[in-house]
Formats: sequence, structure tokens, C-alpha cells
Amino acid sequence: MTVKTQIFRFEDAGLAYGDAAETLSDVNIDLGEGEFRFLTGPSGAGKTSLLKMIYLAMRPTRGKFFLFGEDAANAPREALPPLRRRIGVVFQEFRLLDHLTAFDNVALPMKVAGVNLNQYREDVSELLNWVGLGHRMDAKPATLSGGEQQRVALARALVSKPDLILADEPTGNVDPAMSERIMKLFVELNKLGAAVIVATHDLHLVQSLGKPVLRIADGRVSRAPGAGGGGGR
Ligand SMILES: Nc1ncnc2c1ncn2[C@@H]1O[C@H](COP(=O)(O)OP(=O)(O)OP(=O)(O)O)[C@@H](O)[C@H]1O
Ligand SMILES: [Mg+2]
Repeated sequence: MTVKTQIFRFEDAGLAYGDAAETLSDVNIDLGEGEFRFLTGPSGAGKTSLLKMIYLAMRPTRGKFFLFGEDAANAPREALPPLRRRIGVVFQEFRLLDHLTAFDNVALPMKVAGVNLNQYREDVSELLNWVGLGHRMDAKPATLSGGEQQRVALARALVSKPDLILADEPTGNVDPAMSERIMKLFVELNKLGAAVIVATHDLHLVQSLGKPVLRIADGRVSRAPGAGGGGGR
């Protein structure tokens, strides 16, 4: 039994797209407050699909899913936004808004939440400086490289100080030095209390950081052998 507060828990969950066979089956995993997991598995295994269920973009087609103590698989639609606001997501395909500057893209979650600009201006600048884009705050996404766009997306996911951070291949477009910097940022945020899941193909980084690993293969999610850390099943 874990004594930590639970962030999420799947119970015998499955996910099928349309009439196809299940992409994910028999999902029985959980994450406690302040825990860190890498998520690995071959392309097409279902990493993004699992993350989508966690950030409530899709409901499991079978089984149970609890998020921040709520029965998210059955909750009415209007109950989902407050849960979603506690999650910061770095999407695999960035999803930046083309007509907004880097600053405004990062600031967007705060603006949408109705927070006054004076309360987040410094946080946005600090985050953009941290990811090495302090000099490009006024740039539109189309004028940024892929790696720079990825770093804007990273800053946007963190600006609201989420309880749970989900990152889908956050180092897919950056050089090795920046990859290491980004991964270390997740470890730091985790030390500050955020629960973190990072989907990645970069097994070298996974090994070097020594955090527990969830692996998806053949539609099943399991703890990789030898992975340390507690709390999950
Ligand atoms: N919207 C969708 N409709 C139908 N099938 C889908 C959809 N999205 C994903 N799939 C299928 O689900 C499976 C898992 O896809 P998913 O994107 O979760 O994999 P992944 O592990 O994130 O892969 P990658 O490492 O390439 O990002 C794949 O077979 C994919 O074709
Ligand atoms: Mg993916």
C-alpha cells in the first residue's frame, strides 16, 4: 500500500480506436504524488494514447480511471476542465498558436485561467530564459526552429505550475546538450513536488537518470525490470 496521495490510477482499463482491436489492454498502473516515470516502447506502441487518457483527451473504452481522486472515466464533461488545469502537457507535435508570439504562447494557459498579466509576466520571461529563448520572446512559431518551438511548448506546459507534468518526446527535436538540460529540468520540477511522466525513445537518458520506467509492448503497460522507485504497481 502506498501512503502517498494518488495522482491517478487505472483499473483493468483498455483503449480501442473505433472498431479496431484494443491499442492498450489490461492497464493497471498508478502514480503517486511526487513520483517520476519514464514511458518507453516502440513507435506505435501506445505511449501517446496512454498520455491522452491521462490528460482526459480520451476516456478508456473499458475499465476504470481515477484522476486526482475523481472517477474520470465516468465524470460528466463539465467536471473535466478543473482536473485538466492541474496537468501540464508537452505535446509531441507542440501545438503552438501561429499568430501568437513565443511569450504569448507560453502565457496562454494563465490568460485563459483569467490571471492578471502582472502575476505571470516574470514567470513567463524566466521560463523562456531558462529554455534559452529569452532573446526570441517576440518571435512567432513559424520563425523558430523545431527545437525552439519544442522549448516554447515546454515552457507553456510549466507556466501554471501543474501538479502533474506529461511530456511526450520532449527532446525529439533538440541536440544532446539541450536534451540533457530538459530532462534535468523535469527531475528538478519533480524534486519540487510535481509528478512527472516523460515518454521518450532516448534510452541513454533514461538509463543515466535512474528513474523508474513504464514500458509498453504488445498493448500492455508494465514496469520495466530492474526499475527502481516505489508507489506504482
Ligand atoms: N486517432 C487514432 N485513430 C486510430 N488509431 C490511432 C489513432 N491514434 C493512434 N492510433 C493507433 O494507436 C496505436 C498507438 O499509437 P500512439 O500514437 O499511441 O503510439 P506511440 O507509442 O505514441 O508512437 P510514437 O513513438 O510513434 O509516437 C498506433 O497503432 C496508432 O496507429
Ligand atoms: Mg507518440
